[in-house]
Amino acid sequence: ALERTFSIIKPDATRRNLTGAVNALIEKAGLRIVAQKRIQLTRAQAETFYGVHKERPFFGELVDFMISEPIVVQVLEGENAVAKYREVMGATNPANAAEGTIRKEFALSVGENSAHGSDSLENAQIEIAQFFSGNEIVG
Ligand code: CMP
Repeated sequence: ALERTFSIIKPDATRRNLTGAVNALIEKAGLRIVAQKRIQLTRAQAETFYGVHKERPFFGELVDFMISEPIVVQVLEGENAVAKYREVMGATNPANAAEGTIRKEFALSVGENSAHGSDSLENAQIEIAQFFSGNEIVG
């Protein structure tokens, strides 16, 4: 089915001027970038976004990292976009990511792993709504 998923190009990638290189892999996979903006996350926004992880030992480090530099938030559209984008990103830990994936090509570590993508269609809708209003998404 035609789906939309939510993507973040993380601070390690924006800092190294890799926004376009990440977008090239997204578009090569047939996903369309139907909304995109560069923003500075606030600590409160990052804590809300990663709320499901707040009991994890890496939560503080994760929030500090996500607010360390601007990020690029995106809505990606395509057939099976949620699963497809997870394939394009590769495994969370770049050591386990397949050749040609965003994380294999660009990620520095499991924390500084260049990209976030929604893990379900339901979460995609929740995450998109945290950053975009309807009229900012143009399919
Ligand atoms: P993301 O898809 O953005 O969602 C949760 C993030 O937590 C995940 O990507 C990783 O970047 C991060 N993460 C997972 N495990 C660790 C870890 N052991 N140390 C630091 N960050 C982690």
